[in-house]
Amino acid sequence: MSPTRNRSNGIRFSGVAILACLLAGGLGAPVPGAAQGQGNDVTYSRDIAPILQRSCVKCHRPNSLAPMPLLTYDDVRPYARRIRERTALRDKRGVMPPWFIERDIGIQHFRNDEALSEQEIETIAAWASAGAPEGDPNDLPELSVPTSGDAWDIGEPDLVVDLPPYTMEANAPDWWGMIPHTASGLTEDRYVAAMQVLEISDVEGGAGGKFIYHHAIIASTDENGRMNGNWPVHEVGRNAEHFDPQASPILRAGSQFFIPGVHIHANEWTTTAHLRLGLKFHPRDYEPTRRRSTLTFGNGEIDLRPLVAGQEIHFYQELTQNTKLPTFEPHMHAAGVRMCMDAIWAGRTETLTCAGYDHNWVKVYNYDEDHAPLLPKGTLLHITAYFDNTPDNTNVVDARNWSGLGHRSIDNMAIVIMPTIVLSDEEFAEEMATRRERLGLAEGEGMLGCPLCGFIELPGGRDR
Ligand code: HEC
Repeated sequence: MSPTRNRSNGIRFSGVAILACLLAGGLGAPVPGAAQGQGNDVTYSRDIAPILQRSCVKCHRPNSLAPMPLLTYDDVRPYARRIRERTALRDKRGVMPPWFIERDIGIQHFRNDEALSEQEIETIAAWASAGAPEGDPNDLPELSVPTSGDAWDIGEPDLVVDLPPYTMEANAPDWWGMIPHTASGLTEDRYVAAMQVLEISDVEGGAGGKFIYHHAIIASTDENGRMNGNWPVHEVGRNAEHFDPQASPILRAGSQFFIPGVHIHANEWTTTAHLRLGLKFHPRDYEPTRRRSTLTFGNGEIDLRPLVAGQEIHFYQELTQNTKLPTFEPHMHAAGVRMCMDAIWAGRTETLTCAGYDHNWVKVYNYDEDHAPLLPKGTLLHITAYFDNTPDNTNVVDARNWSGLGHRSIDNMAIVIMPTIVLSDEEFAEEMATRRERLGLAEGEGMLGCPLCGFIELPGGRDR
C-alpha cells in the first residue's frame, strides 16, 4: 500500500517508470521538449493516471481529506496546471504530495518516502504544458485503490481503536485537556510495526475546516492504570509512523489508550471529531534486538521580527551514547518553513537532512534501516530552524506581528521529536559491520551519517 519509491516492490508501475526513462532519454536527463512545452507523447491515460493513482488518490477521492478527487480524466483535466505547479514545488511548502525532504542534500533513503521522482515531476510538467492530452483510454491502468474514504498507509490495520470524540464550538478559543481512557481490546502482548492516526471529523468536504486537533500526545496504560507506553504524537496532517524493525514498541494485553495532553483549535464550524488509531503488528515471534529511547529537544526562546523572511534559530544536543536515529521529525508552527539537522563529530560537520516545512502537514520521516544516522557518542546534533514571517508564507495569519515561543499555532516552536536507539560500544560496532556488509562498503569507506562506518574494528577481532 505504501507508495515507497526506493524499494522494488513499491514500484508498482514499473512500465511507466521505464517509459518515463525512455522519454527522459536516460536517468537524470530532462525530458526533451518538456521545458519547451512539446511533450506531445505524454498522455493522461498512459503516463499520468498511474502516478496519480499511486501518489495522490489516497487523499484526492470522495470523502477523504483533499478538496477535489483526482480519479478520472474529467476530475483531473481542470487541475492540470495547478498539478504542474504543486508538484514542481519539490520540497517547498505547498508541494503535492506533501513530503518535504530536500533531494540535493543529506540522506536520501526513507522507508516511508512519498515524493514523486524527478522524472515523474517532469512528465507531469510536459503533459500539462502540452495541453493535458487524454490519450487512449485503453491505456488506463486498472484502478487498484479504493475510490472513497480515508486511507490507511500502513495497510489494513490489525487493531483499530476509536478514541472518544470532542466537540469544538465554531471560532472558540483553543482547548487544552485530556481525552479519557479507551480499552484497546487487545488480549495478548503484541509488538507494533507501524501506527497511523486518522482524524475523523463530522465536517464534510476537504481540509481547511475539517480538522480540529493541533496535537495529541498518545499514551497507553495497563489494566491497573499504570503508564505502559508512549506513542507518536499525532499532529495536523501527520503521516504514518513505521517503527524501526530493530526496536519496535510493545502494546500490552489489556492496554487502554488515552491522551494526557491534547490541544484542539476551532475552525469556522462547530465540529465533532475523534482520533482513530490504526496499528499494524509484527508477527508473533518478533523480538526487538535493540533498546528504544527518545531524545526530544528544542529551543528555549524564539524572537521573530515582523515582515522578515529567512530568520534562523539554532539549537544543539550532545549525544552522550552511541545512537541510531530512526526518524527525523521537525516540529514548528505556522511561521516555520524549513529545518536542517547536522552532525558534528571530531571536528567534522555533516548535514544529515534538510526538509521544508508546512504547518498543514507535520511529517515524520523514517530513515531506511541501512541509512539511518549511526552516530558515535560525543556527536553534537545541530538543528537550524528557518522561519518566514512575511505574507509570502500564507500559513502566517498576520505577518505584521512580532512572534515568539508559545503553544498556539500562531506562536512558534522549533523542536525535533526523536525516538532513538541507544547502542553499547559492542552493539555499535556490530551495527556498523552489518551495514558495511549489506551496503558493500570498502575498508575505510565512510558514509553520510555514519562517520565511523569504514573504520571500527569489531570487538573479538571478527575479521572485517
Ligand atoms: C496526504 C494527502 C494528499 C496527498 C497524498 C496529495 N494531496 Fe493534493 N491536496 C491535499 C489537500 C488536503 C489539499 C488542500 C490543501 C492545500 O491546498 O494544500 C490538496 C491540494 C492540492 C492541489 C491544489 C488544489 C487547488 O484548489 O488549488 C493540487 C493541485 C493537488 N493537491 C494535487 C495533488 C497531486 C497531483 C498529488 C499527487 C502527486 C496530491 N495532490 C497528493 C491532500 C493530498
